[in-house]
Amino acid sequence: MAFEYQETTEDLATRINIHEKYGKKDIDKWMLGVLLPEKGSSILDVGCGAGKQLKAFHQYLEGEAEITGGDISSELLDQARELNAELGDPFTILTLDFNKPFKSEDDSFDLLSCCFAIYYAADIPFTIKEMHRVLKPGGRLFSTGPMPENKQLFYDVIKEATGNPIPPMPGSSRYASEILDSIRSTFSSVDVHIFENPLVFESLEPFMDYTRASLSEDRLLWKDFFEGQDEFEQVMSRIRDVAQRKLEGSEGGLVMTKVVGGFMAHK
Ligand SMILES: C[S@@+](CC[C@H](N)C(=O)[O-])C[C@H]1O[C@@H](n2cnc3c(N)ncnc32)[C@H](O)[C@@H]1O
Repeated sequence: MAFEYQETTEDLATRINIHEKYGKKDIDKWMLGVLLPEKGSSILDVGCGAGKQLKAFHQYLEGEAEITGGDISSELLDQARELNAELGDPFTILTLDFNKPFKSEDDSFDLLSCCFAIYYAADIPFTIKEMHRVLKPGGRLFSTGPMPENKQLFYDVIKEATGNPIPPMPGSSRYASEILDSIRSTFSSVDVHIFENPLVFESLEPFMDYTRASLSEDRLLWKDFFEGQDEFEQVMSRIRDVAQRKLEGSEGGLVMTKVVGGFMAHK
């Protein structure tokens, strides 16, 4: 199944900021602890967005690595280039569409990361094979994405507010199934690591900001829920009422737990 999708700079930044502010754990630290990348490695981050993981690798490896970031969004690549300039240009930043053959040679990288992006691929086995091809023998792929039990509260509130079933999400509907199977059948071994991060909202606004950014960013997925801005605002208002009730009935706030799978595969 192909999902139409367009990430916007603002929606991505809103969600990243909310994770950092309300989550108790740091996903980049977790990723680095799982991967323990080595100095001198060549790393390709596919779907690098504004460069969050590029920076994490760079700082952890104290500049001693060849780090490349690729993405399809020119808006997000501009942000990654700004970050690159701030850090003294340690990265190679390139336009990369993972639905097309990668421009890199076979056996080019020690590590390929793809964080919260693989599930937007139109043809998962094709993209996974390209990732495998550009890795050196013994190289590793690390992918992150939402597991089926991810952010249950968010979906419960939307279901209750609208009375509609939740449409299949590009990430959680196939990450732990179709995508994991495809990685397993292409790579010689795969380990599954789980990261759980409860986001605790003691007030309504950050939860509403998160919901607005998610629904607005993935507008096409929610197209049966609203058409146009007026209906979008009506849905947001019903969501607000349900979330408010749940907040009042909670002890210590609304808890939305991110449940992320880190798949580490060896070539
Ligand atoms: C949720 S963002 C994650 C960005 C970054 N890895 C992070 O965690 O902050 C998903 C990324 O996948 C990228 N993406 C979507 N389709 C793509 C494609 N066909 N080729 C390359 N990147 C793509 C988007 O532009 C976006 O940067």
